[in-house]
Amino acid sequence: MSSNETTLVEAALRVLNTPDPVDKAKLGDQIANHWLQGLITNPYNPSQPDLIVPDRPARLTNVKLVSPSLMPKLGKAGSLQSRQAIVHSLVHTESWAIDLSWDIIARFGSKQESMPREFFDDFVRVAQDEGRHFTLLAARLEELGSFYGALPAHDGLWDSAVATSKDLFARLAVEHCVHEARGLDVLPTTISRFRNGGDNKTADLLEEVIYPEEVTHCAAGVKWFKYLCSRTRGDNADEESDDDAVNKFHEVVRSYFRGPLKPPFNEKARKAAGFGPQWYEPLAVKDFSQ
Ligand SMILES: [Fe+2]
Ligand SMILES: [Fe+2]
Repeated sequence: MSSNETTLVEAALRVLNTPDPVDKAKLGDQIANHWLQGLITNPYNPSQPDLIVPDRPARLTNVKLVSPSLMPKLGKAGSLQSRQAIVHSLVHTESWAIDLSWDIIARFGSKQESMPREFFDDFVRVAQDEGRHFTLLAARLEELGSFYGALPAHDGLWDSAVATSKDLFARLAVEHCVHEARGLDVLPTTISRFRNGGDNKTADLLEEVIYPEEVTHCAAGVKWFKYLCSRTRGDNADEESDDDAVNKFHEVVRSYFRGPLKPPFNEKARKAAGFGPQWYEPLAVKDFSQ
């Protein structure tokens, strides 16, 4: 590659270093299109040392961050105030989801990890989806008479990203399987609360755009976790043994995720993502042997 050609990792770093989430989403969308259209051709430059990825991405300071226990109650979407609070928290989560998708690209896009091109394709698509979710939900929040930053938001969302910043198995398992799947568990309840509260517009946005795309995000996590397992074992990826990947998954989640996973699980959506109960059910009960 020529030395002045931008790599995908360099472009991902630009998103991470952009503080305003509106700009993050816009820039990310542009970069994703450039990558998917072949205008950016190299994920990283193998002949250059790895670039420094910030521990925490740049963020605006206008959103007041508080610890999760100090967050005001969201309510059940029965009042405008509750609907604003729920959409505000979703907007906040999506803004972190943008950073998380560019972070896995920037942090693990290196010669040492040598992930295939398709890995970058998948997470670029995830990043583009998360940017769109942020933009659509932020616009909806304004239609509801509020704006991102009007309410406090919880500050724990990046903690598990920091905890998994050195290990791609852990990052994929915790962020892209466990957390994405948790989103799938809670979304149907949120959607019906908006419907029952008479806000079909938000319910439709969540149900028709966001929910189906979140299934594909969890699927990407599972797919690349399995890929890493089979590559480590030296198998042909097509003949991978799920049992080994599942065992490795349990081991990784037990060491990087605090506490048992919280049922009830959305089995149908999880299954659609290739994430059957054998992956998560053994993690739902506390393992007293450890
Ligand atoms: Fe999302
Ligand atoms: Fe997602």
